[in-house]
Amino acid sequence: MKVYNDYFGRFGGRYAAEVLRTPLDELQAAFTGAIADPEFLAELDRLGRQFAGRPTPLTPAVNAAAEIGGAAIYLKLEGLANTGAHKVNNVIGQCLLAQRMGKPRVIAETGAGQHGVATAAVSARLGLECRVYMGEVDVRRQRPNVFWMDLFGAEVVPVGSGARTLKDAVNEALRDWSDSFERTHYVIGSAMGPSPYPDMVREFQSVVGREVVEQCRQLGVEPAALVACVGGGSNALGFFAPHLEAPEPRLIGVEAGGRGPALGDHAARLSGSGAPGIVHGYKSLFLTDGDGQVAETHSISAGLDYPGVGPQLAHLGDSGRVEFTTASDDEALDAVRTFARSEGIVFALESAHAGAAAIKVARSLPDDANVVVNVSGRGDKDLFILARALQPGRWAEFLKREAQEIEDA
Ligand SMILES: Cc1ncc(COP(=O)(O)O)c(C=O)c1O
Repeated sequence: MKVYNDYFGRFGGRYAAEVLRTPLDELQAAFTGAIADPEFLAELDRLGRQFAGRPTPLTPAVNAAAEIGGAAIYLKLEGLANTGAHKVNNVIGQCLLAQRMGKPRVIAETGAGQHGVATAAVSARLGLECRVYMGEVDVRRQRPNVFWMDLFGAEVVPVGSGARTLKDAVNEALRDWSDSFERTHYVIGSAMGPSPYPDMVREFQSVVGREVVEQCRQLGVEPAALVACVGGGSNALGFFAPHLEAPEPRLIGVEAGGRGPALGDHAARLSGSGAPGIVHGYKSLFLTDGDGQVAETHSISAGLDYPGVGPQLAHLGDSGRVEFTTASDDEALDAVRTFARSEGIVFALESAHAGAAAIKVARSLPDDANVVVNVSGRGDKDLFILARALQPGRWAEFLKREAQEIEDA
């Protein structure tokens, strides 16, 4: 049987408040039992197919590759999963675990809103009570996802403390869980948090990597590099999972370069100036200010706007198995435009960071090489940000008219 570890090199652990020992032990036992139980795995697979629409396609980006030059580019379209991103893979697994533990209520934190939408949708499907914590800033910039969570019957709680983004939403969710764990499971949305979450989230996301291996085999494609964006690390780890013990292919994680290298303008922990620390129950690399306090971050994509990174990715950076780089806000916007025009595919702004890095990697490789990009989500949720950035005048006119029509009605 597979052995799960609390630590990944010098990172990881379970630095949770005493009160959370009980639910974390219970979760560890439920997860290790479930992942070895053929019935649980069959149910996970069934919901993945019937509800999330797995397997998602791997498509050659022939036009983009011709325009960019260099290696061939393949896109793994996680955005075609129900609810629009890879987040649903982990949520299905954790919500099935909640049922296995006899817990009728789930809570979640969300940044971009994709994890919240996935949790709300799976809760609707499985009949679970659902509450989602979301920073007030994210509520504003990801309004469409708040609408969907509401429609799915979830309660969205705006968080007004701190920077009012993802890290503050995690704090609130942990607070809720401390008081409610007897009937509540906390569905963490990335490969971070106290053990067993990093292992568990990677395992539930590894379906992406397994599908890519099989799809590449069918297409006769041997990847030279896999490229994924890195918020907390769940889409990257799931995508990279089958290759972590092998020396090849190159595994490239892309963080938010934001507006520039000054602290507060980016979220580059691994490729920037992250320092070891313990936050949200785990030890990893975090962006901190001169006093050692967790720093504020910036990214055009809410899902990459987080000061920490999952412990396994921090370790894989230490060991050199995963390379890290950044893409700026502007490079991400350019990548959205490039792939939309050439392929008819709209990347989520998070995934567009991987797209931007893949463009550079493809250019540096010969034309018989292959680069595979994890398109972790689709850009529909970013309509308001994209339209404002790419067509400000026409978008403002449309919004004014809409607002007027609502007022007049
Ligand atoms: C579409 C999409 N991609 C990537 C991420 C980043 O998260 P992770 O690093 O856990 O994959 C998010 C987070 O909200 C997201 O919505």
